[in-house]
Amino acid sequence: MSDENAVKMTTMNYDKDRPTAENPVKIEDLSLRDGHQSLFATRGRTEDMIPVAEMMDEVGFWAMEVWGGATFDTMHRFLNEDPWERIRTLKRYIKKTPFSMLLRAQNLVGYRNYADDVARAFVERTAENGMDIFRTFDALNDYRNIETVVPVIKASGKHFQGCICYTMTEPRMGGEVYNIDYFVNKAKALEDMGADSICIKDMAGLIAPYDAYAIVKALKENVKPPIHLHSHFTSGMSPMSHLKAIEAGVDIIDTCMSPYAYRTSHAALEPLVMTLLGTNRDTGFDIKQLAAINEKFEKEIMPKYRHLLDDTKMSIIDINVLLHQTPGGMLSNLVNQLREMDALDKIDEVYAELPRVRKDLGQIPLVTPTSQIVGIQTVNNVLFDDENERYKMITAQVKDLCYGLYGKTAVPINPEVQKKALKGYERGEEPITCRPAEVLEPELAKAKSETEGLAVDLDDVLIYALYPVTGKKFLNWKYGKEQPPPEVRPRTLEDAKAELELLKKAKAGQLVEKSTKAAPPKGENLRTFNVFVDDDFFEVGVESLDGAPMINYVQPMAGAMPAPAMPAAARAAAPAQAPAAAPAAAKAAPPAEAAPAPAAVEGTPLNAPMPGLIIKYEKNVGDAINEGETVVILEAMKMENALPAPASGTIKAINYSSGDSVAKGDVLCVIG
Ligand code: CO
Repeated sequence: MSDENAVKMTTMNYDKDRPTAENPVKIEDLSLRDGHQSLFATRGRTEDMIPVAEMMDEVGFWAMEVWGGATFDTMHRFLNEDPWERIRTLKRYIKKTPFSMLLRAQNLVGYRNYADDVARAFVERTAENGMDIFRTFDALNDYRNIETVVPVIKASGKHFQGCICYTMTEPRMGGEVYNIDYFVNKAKALEDMGADSICIKDMAGLIAPYDAYAIVKALKENVKPPIHLHSHFTSGMSPMSHLKAIEAGVDIIDTCMSPYAYRTSHAALEPLVMTLLGTNRDTGFDIKQLAAINEKFEKEIMPKYRHLLDDTKMSIIDINVLLHQTPGGMLSNLVNQLREMDALDKIDEVYAELPRVRKDLGQIPLVTPTSQIVGIQTVNNVLFDDENERYKMITAQVKDLCYGLYGKTAVPINPEVQKKALKGYERGEEPITCRPAEVLEPELAKAKSETEGLAVDLDDVLIYALYPVTGKKFLNWKYGKEQPPPEVRPRTLEDAKAELELLKKAKAGQLVEKSTKAAPPKGENLRTFNVFVDDDFFEVGVESLDGAPMINYVQPMAGAMPAPAMPAAARAAAPAQAPAAAPAAAKAAPPAEAAPAPAAVEGTPLNAPMPGLIIKYEKNVGDAINEGETVVILEAMKMENALPAPASGTIKAINYSSGDSVAKGDVLCVIG
C-alpha cells in the first residue's frame, strides 16, 4: 500500500461522525439498475425499491443508478410497469442523491439507432421526469453517435458523463487496436464534447488491476473531468482493479449493495468501505447503516427474486469471460437461447465461433447492443451454417452494422461478410461513412399518428417509438384496452414462501410424483360412453384388454374444457339429457385434437427455427412467393431475423400475427 493510503486517523469508528478524509472516494450505487439487471434479468420492480429508497438516500452516494439500460424494455414488456413512472416514484423517496441512468447514445434505451427527433425528445422527457446524470456510451465508441443527445443533456442543465467502452483483443490491455493511446484519445474527445465526468465502462470485467492503474493514471494526467470506473465483477478482478484505480487517483467507483453484488454484477460496497476506513480516501459511509439496508433487502425483497438467480454453478466468477469477452447479461441470454433451442450442448462451439464473428464484424466492443448482435449471429452461425456456407442466416442488425448504421467499427469489417450481408439490403448495397442518424428519417410524427387515441402524452408515444410491438401492447394494458397476462403480475413474498415449502417437500421426498406413463393407442374394440358428474360431462372410452374392461381415455367435455370448444347445443343438451339420448350431442362436441391445426393446410410449412416474437409478416394469405423471399420477421433475443420462404408457391395459411410469441418448430405459415 502506498504511503498516502496508510491509516491517518487516530480516532476511528464505524459511524459517520469519524473525521472526513482528505479525498474521499465517491461511490455510485448500481443496485437498482445494473445490479438487478446483471443478476435478476432486470426484473426488479419499483415496489421493491421503495422499502429501501429512503435509507439509501441517507448513505451519501455520489449518485444512484436507477434507470436506463434494459430497465425501460423489461418494465413495459415483462413487468407491466410504466418506465417513466419509476423515475417519478423513486424521486419522491430519494430526494438528496442524484439519479443516474445508462443511455445507449443514439440507441437510447433500445437496440438500434433511433432518429434524431426521437433521441432529442427522449432525453428531454427523461430530464424532465427527474434524471440528473446521463451516463452516455456508444457501443462502438463512435462519438458521432452522441452528438445529438449531448447538447440536449446540457441544455436541460444535466450532467453529461461520457463513457469509453473498455475492451481488448489481447489477454491484457494493448495490441494494435485497444491500447493506452486509444483510451487517452477517447477521453480527450469526450472532454472536448463537454463531458462533466468520464467513465471507463468495463462491462465484462476485463480490466486487470494494473491496467486499471495505468489507464486511470494516464487519464488523470491528460484530461480534467473526474474519472469514474465501472467494472463488472464477472472475472473476479474488479475489487483489485478498484483498489489499484483508487491508488491511481480515480474519483468515483461503482459498487452494489452486497445482496445485489458479485457474479456478473459488481463488487460489493461494504468491503470497499472497510478497506478504505481511516485512509485519506475513506468513503465516510456508516457501515452499520449499510448493514441495516442489507437486512431489509435480504428479508423483504430478495426472496421474491431468488428464483431468477442462476444457481446452476458453484463458482461466482467466470474466468471464461477473459477468453470470450461476453458481458454478464449476454452470457445468460446465450445460454437461455441455446437451451430453448435444445442446443445447450453447442455452447463450446458458440464460444469458439464468437471471436471469429467479432473479428469479421470489425473487432467491436461487446456491450449492448453489439454484444447481442455478435452473440446472436454467433448462435445463428453455429446452428445454421454448414461446411459449404457461412453466415447462412444473417440478422437484420448485422446487416445494419455492415451498412454503417451503428457507426464506424474499430477495424474494417470483413469485406466478404459485408458484401453478403448487404446483398439486396433495403437501404443500399454500398455502406455509408457519415454519422449514422443522418440517413434516418424522422420517426416521431409517425409514432404520434400511429398511437393516436391510445397514447395520452409524449412519454407514451416514446414507449411506442422505441418499442413498437411490445410498447403498443403495454399501452393497451395501461389504458385497460387489453387484459395484461398473468405472468406480468408481481410475485409476492407469499408466493416465494409457498414455492420454498414445495421445494422442501420435494427434497424430503414427500411429493407424489405424477405418472408419466404414456397412454396406450386406442384399439378397434373401443366403446365410448358419456359420463355425467353433476354439471361435468366426460366422454369415456372403454376397451376390453385381456378380458378385463379398461378405461382407455377420459375426455372432459364441459367445465374442465374451455367452453367455446363445445358447441352451444351440446353444452345445453348434455347435462339435461339422459345418457341414452346424449350420443348425438356428444358426437357434435369436438375432441381436443380437432382444434384447428396448422398442419391441416397442405403445403410446405415454414417452421420457427427458434423461439421468438413475431414482428410482422411481409406477405398475406393468397400472395405469391418465391423460395428465399422473406415471409416473416421473427425477433429472437431482441435481434430481428428475416425468415425466407422454404419453397415457391402461394401463401396458404398464416398462423400468427404481430406480437405473438412462438416456440421453436411452430408452423408460422404454409406455402402451397
Ligand atoms: Co454495467
